[in-house]
Amino acid sequence: MALISLSLTVLYMLSRPPVYQGQGQPCNSVEHGYQCFPQVSHLWGQYSPYFSLEHESPASQDVIPDGCEVAFAQVLSRHGARYPTQDKSATYAELISAIQRNVTSFRGKYAFLESYKYTLGAEDLTTFGEDQMVDSGVKFYHRYRTLAKMITPFIRASGSDRVVASAEKFIEGFQNAKLDDHHSGGKAPVVNVVIPEGDGFNNTLDHSACTAFEDDELADEIEGNFTAVITPPIRSRLEADLPGVRLADKDIISLMDMCPFDTVARTPDGSELSPFCSLFTGKEWAQYDYKQSLSKYYGYGAGSPLGPAQGIGFTNELVARLTQSPVKDSTSTNTTLDSNPATFPLDTKLYADFSHDNSMISVFFAMGLYNGTEPLSKTSVESIAEMDGYAASWTVPFGARAYFEVMQCKREKDPLVRVLVNDRVVPLHGCAVDSLGRCKLDDFVSGLSFARQGGNWKSCFA
Ligand SMILES: *[C@@H]1O[C@H](CO)[C@@H](O)[C@H](O)[C@H]1NC(C)=O
Ligand SMILES: *[C@@H]1O[C@H](CO)[C@@H](O)[C@H](O)[C@H]1NC(C)=O
Ligand SMILES: *[C@@H]1O[C@H](CO)[C@@H](O)[C@H](O)[C@H]1NC(C)=O
Ligand SMILES: *[C@@H]1O[C@H](CO)[C@@H](O)[C@H](O)[C@H]1NC(C)=O
Ligand SMILES: *[C@@H]1O[C@H](CO)[C@@H](O)[C@H](O)[C@H]1NC(C)=O
Repeated sequence: MALISLSLTVLYMLSRPPVYQGQGQPCNSVEHGYQCFPQVSHLWGQYSPYFSLEHESPASQDVIPDGCEVAFAQVLSRHGARYPTQDKSATYAELISAIQRNVTSFRGKYAFLESYKYTLGAEDLTTFGEDQMVDSGVKFYHRYRTLAKMITPFIRASGSDRVVASAEKFIEGFQNAKLDDHHSGGKAPVVNVVIPEGDGFNNTLDHSACTAFEDDELADEIEGNFTAVITPPIRSRLEADLPGVRLADKDIISLMDMCPFDTVARTPDGSELSPFCSLFTGKEWAQYDYKQSLSKYYGYGAGSPLGPAQGIGFTNELVARLTQSPVKDSTSTNTTLDSNPATFPLDTKLYADFSHDNSMISVFFAMGLYNGTEPLSKTSVESIAEMDGYAASWTVPFGARAYFEVMQCKREKDPLVRVLVNDRVVPLHGCAVDSLGRCKLDDFVSGLSFARQGGNWKSCFA
């Protein structure tokens, strides 16, 4: 039986469409993430699939140096690639059928549109997105192997299906890696806590409790204004090429959104680029990427008066775990959960939490990880260097992961903290950083004064 299934696997692998690009490397891998069509797919903002930023830190800064042992690691992860949300999925389906009704001739790179059938689901992970999370679990196991081979991580997920499913797939990858490593002992990880989402719940992995924040529409207005700057030439071209069509600004963005969403759904390995992608130029993808960064910055980051406040709760939970002391927070933590060792233990060394892009942006800004980023221009594209390493595609792509790690080193008495976002060592603010991007644990914690003092959470209910 085993033999038969093995040979079927081999046959299946041989008959699969090519996933290899260029130098005989798979274009999506555990180590490097999504490197398929990078000139396009790394410019999709939060709809980019995770790609490793390992080469964006000074040489070898991201490795665990000799003489150091990891003493603690926490991953904060986004869910994997998903279908569009319910509303957007309906919007895209309607737009495509309106185009099919109105347009009188489809030629060249538009030919596929004539018979394109909209079959995307809504809200849930795609198969590719599930595999991303398996890969993420494998990568986490290997990076933190000295702890992971012995310790069962404590795992929480925010309560939407795709986030819980992401945690489960991560666990699958983690366990597979552990078995492959011949470490079968200890309890298998489970999702220990699912924190309900929605009105009335305190949830550090999904915002909702801060009234003034939820009512704010600044980011939508800024995104709309920027969209109006970039769409006129795109509209002229598409309306000329697709006789009979009339496109509003939001329709143009919808057609651009179809490129990532169709790509992450059309094959299980993401190896086929959607034909929607070629309707736009490289310059237009750079504008699209910036639009995504802009809306996250002014929606959940420092550009929003209460954006960083949404990340205070998680930051204070991390401080509690790092210092093994009870959570001190009166923002979005649930005190019932966080005061109970069964739902918020303080004595373990490996943690994994699963969340959404928006809340992760708020957490990064609550920690000041992007305090070197100047307010983003509302009218013209900035490069990621100009934004000091902040971009939606660099911070919260599908399957994004931030590692908070503590190491104990031979020649240094104090434990050292380092933060990696998608494998890039983030230059920390608020504490004295060494050449490997690390701060002393006590310094790091004292630098998190914004969160420890409760930030401006009071303005939520003013
Ligand atoms: C806090 O968590 C408890 C235990 O899961 C739950 O019963 C309660 O509804 C939660 N409260 C809030 C405000 O989220
Ligand atoms: C958006 O554009 C309108 C019209 O130009 C302008 O009045 C408004 O102030 C802009 N909004 C923001 C938030 O910049
Ligand atoms: C299709 O045509 C209808 C009727 O003229 C128009 O209202 C609609 O905006 C058009 N939609 C597109 C996407 O061309
Ligand atoms: C939920 O958060 C509010 C502060 O925003 C706090 O007053 C309340 O006690 C919290 N509830 C629980 C169960 O932690
Ligand atoms: C980041 O900047 C904010 C706003 O100025 C400040 O409150 C916070 O303390 C800074 N964080 C760090 C870690 O430097």
